[in-house]
Amino acid sequence: MIKNICCIGAGYVGGPTMAVIAQKCPHIKVTVVDLNQDRINAWNHSDLSLLPVYEPGLDAVVAEARGRNLFFSTDVDKAIDEAEMIFISVNTPTKTYGVGKGMAADLKYIELCARQIARIAKTDKIVVEKSTLPVRTASAIKDILDNTGNGVNFQILSNPEFLAEGTAIEDLFAPDRVLIGGDTTPEGQKAIQQLVDVYANWVNPANILTTNVWSSELSKLTANAFLAQRVSSINAMSELCEKTGANVNEVSKAIGLDSRIGPKFLKASVGFGGSCFQKDILNLVYIAKSYGLNEVADYWEQVIVMNDHQKRRFAKKIVSTLYNTVSGKKIAFLGWAFKKDTNDTRESAAIYVADDLLNEQANIAVFDPKVGESQIQFDLNYLNTRTEEENKKGVQVFDNAYNACNNAHAIAVLTEWDEFKTYDWQKIYDSMLKPAFIFDGRNILNGEELEKIGFVYQGIGK
Ligand code: UDX
Ligand code: ADP
Repeated sequence: MIKNICCIGAGYVGGPTMAVIAQKCPHIKVTVVDLNQDRINAWNHSDLSLLPVYEPGLDAVVAEARGRNLFFSTDVDKAIDEAEMIFISVNTPTKTYGVGKGMAADLKYIELCARQIARIAKTDKIVVEKSTLPVRTASAIKDILDNTGNGVNFQILSNPEFLAEGTAIEDLFAPDRVLIGGDTTPEGQKAIQQLVDVYANWVNPANILTTNVWSSELSKLTANAFLAQRVSSINAMSELCEKTGANVNEVSKAIGLDSRIGPKFLKASVGFGGSCFQKDILNLVYIAKSYGLNEVADYWEQVIVMNDHQKRRFAKKIVSTLYNTVSGKKIAFLGWAFKKDTNDTRESAAIYVADDLLNEQANIAVFDPKVGESQIQFDLNYLNTRTEEENKKGVQVFDNAYNACNNAHAIAVLTEWDEFKTYDWQKIYDSMLKPAFIFDGRNILNGEELEKIGFVYQGIGK
């Protein structure tokens, strides 16, 4: 039975996942390591509201397990040395250089981990891929481990994480399924069983699916591609709804009641964001192209094309509705995170809408309940569209929605935070310039009520 686990990478996946394993398995010592000292300090902070990842329920899990059998450290070598099972949960961003630039996953952090494990390991280890990886990465990791290691045995497992941010803890407590891929050899099957035994501490064994490594790796990319495709499909219909007088919420409901389609992931929006959907589809497109499967590649690429269009279309609509100019006008953004209940902003639609509006010389005022100024400026600077000074000048960040909206020409809702629904909208209306516009990029506000107050309300797909 496994007694010592380490996880390399204390991010949005590694942190919450390991916290839950530790909480559910008090007999296993779980050490989460990261090169980033600030991140580790934040995970060790006595004030649980300052953990580096915001997830509902995460603070309670960390409070229970941390210091008991859950540890956060920057001593990567020591953790590798002591662990019987090592999860790799480092970032695999889209490549920004060389072959596969803008499409393929950059595996340099994975390779560095593999080399470090090979160098340190003096006893047999099970290495678990937690990060989403292109198909056949396991064989690359195995190559490195076997050719540079100290002669110990490594088993590589693929165990993709399906949690969604914002609901990570509930997803981890009751996953639809846990997927574990491994070698079909007896040693591979033994390693699979050892990981099954870890999850079986709280997951019904019927929900633990075992496959070969390649199926497991490809299933993760496929699941994300299918989910993103549903969002792009409903977003495509939202534009048609706007032209024809149909209402996309009604269309979603009508089709979602078909049990073959189902109701989830049919919410039209300003566009999907997050660290996974775009990256994984680009990766899928790259893999398909590399096998010469151009039709397969083109098919999936359209999901991204549609999503980019949806973000751009939203910004254009704001400009055209505001009499074709937003130059010098204050536009208040409610929300910056890529979805509610997370402080993660990676690929958030808000970044791209802001970038377009800044190109139109708008003044943007942002309020997000969990995202602060430094992250917002970082996200804009990362695009490299203009200088840091220009971004600072164009975007002001507020710690209160009412101040952000004060004297604004328009409000744009970019994230579906629940608190936005409960605001005193009359008070906000009174403080704005007239006519006061609201562009609801998440269809969360009551348009009829807002119109009664006097707002000009525009949702998505209606
Ligand atoms: C996703 C997958 O759901 C998860 O299984 C995988 O492990 C990682 O990628 P995540 O990116 O955290 O999770 O959030 P998700 O809930 O999937 O939302 C992704 C984006 O799609 C968000 O920007 C969300 O606002 C948007 N979305 C989702 C919609 O616009 N409409 C919907 O109906 C659903
Ligand atoms: P995810 O959303 O997949 O968890 P993140 O970017 O939030 O991705 O987290 C990945 C973490 O992995 C980062 O905190 C980064 O510092 C860490 N990391 C990357 N490479 C290494 C490495 N070689 N050793 C330790 N930590 C690493």
